[in-house]
This record gives sequence, C-alpha cells and structure tokens, in this order.
Amino acid sequence: MKKVEQIKQPIALEMELFEKKFSLSMKSKVPLLNRITHYIVNRKGKQMRPMFVFLVAKMLGKEHLNDRTYRGAAVIELIHTATLVHDDVVDESYRRRGFFSLNALWKNKIAVLVGDFLLSKGLLLSIDNEDFDLLQIISVAVREMSEGELLQIEKARKLDITEDIYFEIIRQKTATLIAACCAMGACAVHAKEDIEPMRKFGELIGLAFQIKDDLFDYGSKKIGKPTGIDIKEQKMTLPLIYALNNATQKEKSWLINSVKNHNKDKKRVNEVITFVKERGGLDYAVSRMIELQQEALVYLDKYPDSVYKESLVEMVTYVIERNK
Ligand code: IPE
Ligand code: IPE
Ligand code: MG
Ligand code: MG
Repeated sequence: MKKVEQIKQPIALEMELFEKKFSLSMKSKVPLLNRITHYIVNRKGKQMRPMFVFLVAKMLGKEHLNDRTYRGAAVIELIHTATLVHDDVVDESYRRRGFFSLNALWKNKIAVLVGDFLLSKGLLLSIDNEDFDLLQIISVAVREMSEGELLQIEKARKLDITEDIYFEIIRQKTATLIAACCAMGACAVHAKEDIEPMRKFGELIGLAFQIKDDLFDYGSKKIGKPTGIDIKEQKMTLPLIYALNNATQKEKSWLINSVKNHNKDKKRVNEVITFVKERGGLDYAVSRMIELQQEALVYLDKYPDSVYKESLVEMVTYVIERNK
C-alpha cells in the first residue's frame, strides 16, 4: 500500500490550493469562532474526501480544474468537519485526530454551534456561487447522514440490528458523503454521464471505509480517536452482528445481555470481544470489505489509464488497509 502523500502526488498542487480556500471559507467576525476554526485547520484529517473530488474530476479528463471543483471540495470538507464535531458530542468522545475534540475543550454548547456554523458556511459557499447542482448532491448527503446517525441510535436502544440494517446505517451515515465526493468530482467538470457511476463507486468505497472504521474499534492501534467504545455505546457493528447470527440461542442471550446490561463492565466487554473474534466476526467483516473494494474497482475499468485513475485505485486500497 502506498502512503497518502504518494497517492496525493498527482493532485499536490490542487490540494495545496484547496487548503488555502478551505481555511478562508471558515472566516468569521467572531474572535472565539476564529480561534476554534484555527484549531480545526491545524489538526487536519486525512483529507480523503477532497482527494476523491479532485482525482475523479481529473480522471474525467480536465487538466485545469475550474473553481467549481475547488468549491465543491471545500463544501464537502466543511460538511465532513461539521459532522465530526457533532458526532463527538453525540458519542461523548474526547479525542479526535490525535488531539482533544471540540466538546472536550469548549464543551457541548460551543461544539454544537460551531458544527452548525461550519454546515451553514458549506451550504452558503455553494449558494453564493450558484453551484446549485453541487448543492443538490451535498444536501442529499447531509440529510442522509443525520438519518443514518438517528437510525443508529434507535438500533442501539432496541438492540434489534440486522446485517441489512447495519449496511443501511453505514450507507447513510458514511457512504453517502463519499458517494457525494465522487459524484461531485464528475458534476463539477460537467461530466454528466459519469455522475451516477461515480456516485455508486464512492458509495461502495464509503461502505468499505466504515467497516474498516468499525474494525479499528476492535483493535488497540493508536488511531487518534478512542477505540473499544462501540459496545459501551451499545453500537453493534458487523463483527458482532455476524457472531450473533452464528451463535446458539444461549450464546445470543448472553451477548445481548452483555451489551444491554454490562456494557460498562470492562471484563465483560472483553469477553464479548474475544467471543466475536473466536467466531470469526473480524474475518467476516474483512471479507465483506474486500468484496466491496473489488466491486468498486469495476467502476473504474472503463476509464482510460492515467495517473489520476492510478491514484484512485490506490485510494481504494488505502481505504481498507489504512492504519488510522
Ligand atoms: C471519520 O472520517 C468519520 C467516519 C466516517 C468514520 P475520516 O477518518 O475520514 O476522518 P478524518 O477527516 O481523516 O479525521
Ligand atoms: C462517524 O461515525 C461520523 C459520521 C459518519 C457522521 P462514528 O462515530 O462511527 O465515527 P468515529 O469513529 O467517531 O470517527
Ligand atoms: Mg464517533
Ligand atoms: Mg458516531
């Protein structure tokens, strides 16, 4: 697997320009807000979403990207950042990107409002420039992300999640935004016929991406945010769902009872994790992830070879092999 820096190489200039625009897009007259957005900009994430926007736009044959593409990438990263800020409030999580989350430093009140500010800045960036087609793509993703998060909460309360519902949750909360990145890359450069196949491509990658994220929770690697918290939050992800589906009635009752009534008991949670591992829950999740990766790659077949296509292929591998 190549490092992100290498994958970024063909779009290094675009990413540099993007970072400037992204940072400017958050400006405000309120000093507190500027201090916080400064904090955000200095702790950037992997920036996979803007990379997808640029790589798709460039693969579709545009050497010099128009301003629309840059705005599209900035909108996506603004929305992504807003959802992470809100997600850490919802999940009561105090680490993000190796540092304190906003709610840890400034408390929930401020984190909620900053998330709203970032969301509105993103939407306005499209509206003010009359990028209505891009706005449509992104707004669908915003709606679906909230629905996905709420569906997840509902299922965590009732503990009646199935594999199909798990896939619906991760499609909504994560895959739609990555789908939007790829659709937007095509839309921004007016490659109309490619919007739908690219959306699908992004959706498959997004699903694989979230399965990987859920696998991290079962590990002990340092990834810059907490691990081992899903069961504590009664969040049942693919490895556990698989183990449940392949357990006896007695084991099932024990598992559900553990998640429902003993989710703060470290020893008990560790027993659940061991059970999931022994029953091949992690292996199963990995195999589903690889299937999605393979399915996604098919969508790239019809495009002529280029450095951009090559980087996209590498991104797909990176998504499932990354270590943070
Ligand atoms: C984290 O996304 C949120 C999920 C959908 C799991 P990323 O892992 O892309 O976050 P950053 O931007 O790199 O921190
Ligand atoms: C990620 O969800 C946030 C969204 C997709 C909105 P998670 O709660 O599963 O991800 P992390 O682990 O906090 O990044
Ligand atoms: Mg979270
Ligand atoms: Mg969450």
